Amino acid sequence: MEALECIKTRRSIRKFEDKAVDHDTVNAIIDAARMAPSWKNTQIVRYNVVENRDVLDHIANDCVLGFEYNQKTISRAPQLVVVSMIEKRCGYERDGSFTTSKEDRWEMFDAGIASQTFCLAAHDKGVGTVILGIFDESKVAEAISLPEGEKVAALIVMGYPAQECEAPKRKEVADLVRYL
Ligand SMILES: Cc1cc2nc3c(=O)[nH]c(=O)nc-3n(C[C@H](O)[C@H](O)[C@H](O)COP(=O)(O)O)c2cc1C
Repeated sequence: MEALECIKTRRSIRKFEDKAVDHDTVNAIIDAARMAPSWKNTQIVRYNVVENRDVLDHIANDCVLGFEYNQKTISRAPQLVVVSMIEKRCGYERDGSFTTSKEDRWEMFDAGIASQTFCLAAHDKGVGTVILGIFDESKVAEAISLPEGEKVAALIVMGYPAQECEAPKRKEVADLVRYL
């Protein structure tokens, strides 16, 4: 798929077929996502692919702050990627001080770029995704026994699409750009 077509036709998918994405395909998606740029090439993002139905149901029922929409989306999906970040590298100097006034917020910046790259690569392979931001960070970390020294950035629900979605309305270029 052409890059611009991929960017423009990717949609958030919230209903999935009852079929898991095989590991070769998931690995190929991560092979693309790992080429995302990162702060000083620190590459702090990890992809924790949850396939166990009990863990998925636990995250759906107990870890999304009671947000029913996300509960349903996760319940309907074969897989969920918990995007995690290694702490205290991105945005930091070697002595542990922050490099810029954005402090450690570059971690989330990198996780965002990586997540979108993941979603675009998935779309290219016919795999649907939706990024979820409404969840309980510590409960999700506990649910997947996230290694010490990592924290959760976002959830990406993944599977083969069982719906076609229109793009929600976007602002016009003229409303977004300023040439100085
Ligand atoms: C950081 C972030 C958090 C999001 N959180 C949620 C969420 O919790 N639940 C959900 O259903 N969609 C969530 N979305 C998806 C947005 O609603 C969606 O991207 C937006 O409506 C535009 O639709 P599109 O992705 O189909 O273009 C999130 C997207 C982003 C980037």
